[in-house]
Amino acid sequence: MAFASLLALVALAATVRAAPSSSSVTCSDGTVVPDSMCCDFIPLAQDLQSMVLQNECGEDAHEIIRLTFHDAIAISQSLGPSAGTGADGSMLLFPLVEPEFQASNGIDDSVNNLIPFLSSHPNITAGDLVQFAGAVALTNCPGAPRVNFLAGRKNAVAPAIDGLIPVPQDNVSTILARFADAGNFSPFEVVSLLASHSVARADKVDPTLDAAPFDTTPFTFDTQIFLEVLLKGVGFPGLDNNTGEVASPLPFGDTSTGGNDTGMMRLQSDFALARDERTACFWQGFVDQQDFMAQSFQAAFEKMAILGSNAADLINCSAVVPQSVGPVTVPATFPATTGPQDLQLNCTSETFPSLSIDPGATETLIPHCPDGTEDCPSVQFSGPATDSP
Ligand code: HEM
Ligand SMILES: *[C@@H]1O[C@H](CO)[C@@H](O)[C@H](O)[C@H]1NC(C)=O
Ligand SMILES: *[C@@H]1O[C@H](CO)[C@@H](O)[C@H](O)[C@H]1NC(C)=O
Ligand SMILES: *[C@@H]1O[C@H](CO)[C@@H](O)[C@H](O)[C@H]1NC(C)=O
Ligand SMILES: *[C@@H]1O[C@H](CO)[C@@H](O)[C@H](O)[C@H]1NC(C)=O
Ligand SMILES: *[C@@H]1O[C@H](CO)[C@@H](O)[C@H](O)[C@H]1NC(C)=O
Ligand SMILES: *[C@@H]1O[C@H](CO)[C@@H](O)[C@H](O)[C@H]1NC(C)=O
Repeated sequence: MAFASLLALVALAATVRAAPSSSSVTCSDGTVVPDSMCCDFIPLAQDLQSMVLQNECGEDAHEIIRLTFHDAIAISQSLGPSAGTGADGSMLLFPLVEPEFQASNGIDDSVNNLIPFLSSHPNITAGDLVQFAGAVALTNCPGAPRVNFLAGRKNAVAPAIDGLIPVPQDNVSTILARFADAGNFSPFEVVSLLASHSVARADKVDPTLDAAPFDTTPFTFDTQIFLEVLLKGVGFPGLDNNTGEVASPLPFGDTSTGGNDTGMMRLQSDFALARDERTACFWQGFVDQQDFMAQSFQAAFEKMAILGSNAADLINCSAVVPQSVGPVTVPATFPATTGPQDLQLNCTSETFPSLSIDPGATETLIPHCPDGTEDCPSVQFSGPATDSP
């Protein structure tokens, strides 16, 4: 009798203790989340879209995606926490330190865009703000995954040291070693993360150029970057041989608009990773494999986004990440004027996919928007809105 009631009491206590972890909260818009702290991110997503991103995969989205990397990668297992604490918002909290490092040249636009949200959304830490803004930015890019988002990063107490962010003139050994030191990233994960360069343009590598795209589809998170970096380089879109730059296959821009659109540029690091024996097969393996690329990027990005935290200490707020704009359904194609004869393949164990060649008398580079503005809705979008590609 006494024993039975003791058992009942123990059972009751267990039930009561278990309740908080199994309970869920419904935010005011109806989203069900594991903890009320997640609800704070719903108005943040709306404000980021209306005040910075404009629901586009344009310049501001690209810059914020780059910022997620530059904030997170500043951590080192060999040097210890005094070197940096990863995805900790230090870029926003010490805006006169890390953004000034040479490797982050050009990052200041994204830093300036996000700093006001520290005071307008005071319950959200700087590290959470950067990574959540990146997750929202990705949802604007057709073909990008809707990444999971964990909340609860601690604010940085000091800026990271210089030298932890890879630069495009680094060789492959240096790049792979840096990612391994930051968080045990494998060569495959490094290549996966570079799917981000599918939505990228450079302002600083060649200071004479504005928004020089890395591939022919800089507003779409597609596999063209993996194809186009494998093509033989023929020239530079602006000045020759800037540090960290190598010749690109389509340097001359879109001649149909009078030749003033910037041609494509190529980073030396992308070129080298596409050809090095440690990474060439991973690089080639993403060509025309949209779902595989997006899923691989997602896994590596989610790992990067929590550098410096333990996943177990964070709250899974993935439900508050907005739905993605949609998938990419078009296959990879050789840009007009290029073809299989231009491929520089160093992966010998895989056969290269058979791809068609874009028609057209001119190169199909579309670095600017149809209306001539800088930021525009994504191109090559087709298909219904969906959760994930
Ligand atoms: C080997 C590693 C990497 C190197 C050396 C590298 C280097 C660069 C450089 C030099 C630029 C051009 C900046 C400019 O001149 O405006 C750039 C742009 C960019 N990077 Fe990376 N990057 C690397 C990895 C990553 C990763 C891991 C991500 C994100 C997950 C990323 C996202 C971006 C994005 C989105 C842009 C375009 C920014 C814009 O269009 O404004 N990069 N990167
Ligand atoms: C911040 O969190 C506190 C404590 O949970 C809450 O009372 C306050 O309303 C929150 N502020 C905002 C702006 O959400
Ligand atoms: C890569 O760069 C590092 C640092 O500059 C250098 O020590 C190393 O020898 C280089 N490795 C190769 C394979 O070129
Ligand atoms: C650029 O670098 C390449 C390779 O080192 C070299 O052949 C070429 O002459 C350089 N171009 C200029 C203009 O310096
Ligand atoms: C191209 O740029 C030059 C120099 O800025 C300008 O004179 C010319 O009108 C531009 N052409 C077109 C087609 O916009
Ligand atoms: C890639 O292959 C080419 C042609 O066989 C060779 O010249 C080059 O050195 C290789 N590159 C690397 C990084 O192994
Ligand atoms: C977070 O929740 C999502 C579903 O909302 C799930 O797919 C994901 O695996 C969870 N992530 C972690 C790290 O628990």
